[in-house]
Parts: sequence; C-alpha cells; structure tokens
Amino acid sequence: MNIKITKVTDSRIDELDSSNLQFGKQYSDHMLICDFENGAWQDPTIVPYGNISMSPATTFIHYGQSLFEGIKAYKRKDGQVSIFRPKDNWERFNVSARRMAMAEVPEELFMEGMRQLIELDKEWVPDSEGSSLYIRPFMFGTDAFIGVKPADTFRFMIITSPAGAYYSKPTRIYVQNKYVRAFPGGIGFTKAAGNYGACMLPTLETRKLGYDQILWTDGFTHKNVQEIGTMNVFFVFGNTVVTPDLSEGTILAGVTRDSVIKLLKEKGIAVEERPIGIDEIEENYRNGLLKEAFGAGTAAVIAPISELFYNGDTMMLPPIETWEISNFIKKELADIRYGQIPDTHSWMYKVC
Ligand code: COI
Repeated sequence: MNIKITKVTDSRIDELDSSNLQFGKQYSDHMLICDFENGAWQDPTIVPYGNISMSPATTFIHYGQSLFEGIKAYKRKDGQVSIFRPKDNWERFNVSARRMAMAEVPEELFMEGMRQLIELDKEWVPDSEGSSLYIRPFMFGTDAFIGVKPADTFRFMIITSPAGAYYSKPTRIYVQNKYVRAFPGGIGFTKAAGNYGACMLPTLETRKLGYDQILWTDGFTHKNVQEIGTMNVFFVFGNTVVTPDLSEGTILAGVTRDSVIKLLKEKGIAVEERPIGIDEIEENYRNGLLKEAFGAGTAAVIAPISELFYNGDTMMLPPIETWEISNFIKKELADIRYGQIPDTHSWMYKVC
C-alpha cells in the first residue's frame, strides 16, 4: 500500500505535559486521511494534524453516517511500541459500517495505515504507568447532498492522542429507568456516533444528580442491565463473574470485555454471559454477595464502581482494595500490554 507522508516541519511534542495527560486534550503531530470515491478507496495520506474543510451539505452532519473506534498503543520499558488487539477493532469497525450502510475499510488500510502513523509519531506514545496512546479511527459520509440517502463517498481518518487514566477514582453509578440507550434492532452494538450523542442529555442529568455514569437498562422493562456509560459492565456475585450477553444486539462487543472474559476463564474463574436483572443485583447486594462491580472499555480499561443508585436506594460496594477479581484482571491486562508477562494470545501488534 502506498501511503504518501507529509511530515510536520516543527513537532509539537515539546508542548506535551506527560505528567498531566488528560484524555482527548492533545493530539499527536500527524493524522491519516483516506477517501472513498467512485466506489474505491483512494491512496491514503499521512499529513500534519489539522483542521479539515467540507461542504455544509455533507451527509454525516445532517444524517449521522459517522462511526469510530477506540484502540490503544503501549510503550514498553525497552521502547517497543505495540497496539492492543487492533484487528478486532478493524472487524468491529466494519460491523458498524455495514449497519450504517457505509463503505467497509480494507484490513490493510486500517492496520498498515495505523501502524505507519504510530511509527511516525512514536515519540507521542507515553511510557508512564497506566498511560498509552489512544488511537481514534473514524469514518463519515462526505457527499455534498442533503437528500436522504446513504452517502456514496466517505472519508476514513485516524488521529491519536496521548492518554492517562480516564477516571481518577471509582465511579458512582445511577441506574437509568427513564432514558434508553439501545433497543433490539437498533444500533446499540455499533460504535456509531449517534449512539454517543443520544446519551449526552441523560448523562448530563445524571451528573447534575451527583453521579458519574449511567447503568443503562433495557427499554421494555427497565430491569435488565446493558452497559455502563460507554463501557461494558461486570458484576461479581460470590465467586462468579457475570456480564450481560450480546444476543439482543443492544450491547457493544467490547474488545476489553472479550479480553476480561478470556483471562478470567483461563484463571479458572467462573464467568457467565447472560441477562442480568437489577432485581438480581439488589438481591445479591442484600445477601452480601455483590462483591465487585466494574466497567470495562478501551478508554477507562477497568473502572471500579463504588456505588449504585437505583429507585431511591444506594447499594454501596465493599472497599476497592479488597477486590480480588478486578484487581487481578487490571494487573494482568497491564502486564500483557507493557510486556511484563508473555503475550500468549498474540494480542500485541508490534509497531516498531
Ligand atoms: C471505550 O472506552 O471503548 C470508549 O468508547 C470510550 C470513548 C467513547 C471515549
């Protein structure tokens, strides 16, 4: 694949404050751009990070044909930079693209484009504990046409951003029984931009009530839990880990979710993927069996939950320091990513 690279004349790396990395605040020197026109992907380019211009009639602005992925690259002590399971994100990107009637991105464009971009900006991959380079591939419909139809032209881009911890402390969670994130038949399983836009108002209202994130429930009964904020959710009932199954198409098939399940099973810990009712969570809480609860996602990795507010009552989780399962999984994932233990699953994709 031929990628034309135009390098920055002056890197902005000196402006990066590695001791204070805030999610999504700073962007690396370069970005990748590739357009889909006349039924084919054109040659990609890597150019200095900067604004893009487009027609005010562009499809995605009006009708939301827009989707993204979130991936992370890690720097080991020996300087090696690797990306965590990017091929899984490429596959999911195209699952989203099909549902949104958008062009699919070829594997080579996604993987090699990303690899070359990160190789070029490898100085931007932080190496402090818990930090990484957040990679944001995204695509949007670019027809300059406001008739309602799927776009014929698309733009695929990748930008990257050095990232530290997403949440600085355990999250306080509000169980949502007014708004709905996803219905069967909808787009809950995709990373379509609109999924996130529709959650802004409910999240804002939740924050005003003093909570960090929402535990989403199903739209029919408001009983079965789906996701937490923008993450998959796990509960530990006694010695068993439970997480909602993916069968209804309302939940994102998280790459972190999949990694957590695989690593726990390998450790001999029972994991159940099945519907989970809020009543069951309350019952386990009352019986002292709700031991741990956490969100799992690319940005936050493992985000412990300190309390759950549901229907006027608060369920307080035991102190985080006592949590064996989530602390194990958090360390295991970090050790694989920073090369402290062997990568037996071949999850790390070497950049350089
Ligand atoms: C993730 O953690 O996977 C996300 O998608 C979060 C992102 C929307 C910031």
